Amino acid sequence: MTHFLDIHKTEADQLRGIIDNARAMKIARNDRPKGMPDDDQPLAGRMVALIFEKPSTRTRVSFDVGVRQMGGQTMVLSGSEMQLGHGETIADTARVLSRYVDLIMIRTFEEATLLEMAEHATVPVINGLTNRTHPCQIMADIMTFEEHRGPIAGRKVVWSGDGNNVFASFAHAAGQFGFDLTFTGPKTLDPEPEWMEYAAAMGRPITIERDPYKAVEGADLVVTDTWVSMHDPQSAKERRHNQLRGYQVNSDLMSRAKPDSLFMHCLPAHRDDEATSEVMDGPHSVIFDEAENRLHAQKAIMRHCLGL
Ligand code: CP
Ligand code: NVA
Repeated sequence: MTHFLDIHKTEADQLRGIIDNARAMKIARNDRPKGMPDDDQPLAGRMVALIFEKPSTRTRVSFDVGVRQMGGQTMVLSGSEMQLGHGETIADTARVLSRYVDLIMIRTFEEATLLEMAEHATVPVINGLTNRTHPCQIMADIMTFEEHRGPIAGRKVVWSGDGNNVFASFAHAAGQFGFDLTFTGPKTLDPEPEWMEYAAAMGRPITIERDPYKAVEGADLVVTDTWVSMHDPQSAKERRHNQLRGYQVNSDLMSRAKPDSLFMHCLPAHRDDEATSEVMDGPHSVIFDEAENRLHAQKAIMRHCLGL
């Protein structure tokens, strides 16, 4: 069973293959006249379940559209409306869904839910975000960087803000794609030690630099994300804003990175909190390319999982 659970759980050559396929599919689709279906319909006759236990715009729409572009059909399910949200075990849900559908994508809270789903499903399972990681996003981000600037290997990527689930997948990608990753943020919001240890073991130790201005020196890519994630208690908001204000990505900070540096944010953003509108809409920003590339990257991930 080929699941896509995390970037560090898929072989590096397979990750590279996914990015290459995503790029090829994007080009092929953009070359077709608008309104014409793709010649390639690898998911014809297949059904994909998209389960959401948290809100989503990009993940939901890009998976749904991606499956349809490849000739398949989708079923979008909200966790709270399923028996899953009313006490049925994840293992039983996985076994039942596997009798109906060919692929399961799940966005959930606990990583344990994703892992239990993958353990008991007899169809591939894709991680659409948990409290700990967001691998599909970072596959799209690698694709986006390389479209604009060529190979990411050996480049300097700087994350400013909360050491959260999106950062975690960047840490995995640093190991698998071979780039240098610097984290700048307050100590209380440092990334999980497990991810730091993983990157170090892969020969890409993550640099921690508390001063954001020093951190971004020489950066090829500056990345941030919301200061309060969906799984964080709203009561943490004010404290986090106070802790993170100094790590806002603004034009002053971007001016210390390389002149041709890129700016990324997975979105949704809180404009003028973690990043200013000036940066988000400015010349370094590729935020909407990232959003588009979720579609292409996930199409390639689904094909990888289904061996198509
Ligand atoms: N970036 C991302 O995953 O966005 P959504 O929460 O809208 O899916
Ligand atoms: N860190 C954010 C990412 C949203 C796509 C969250 O988990 O809410």
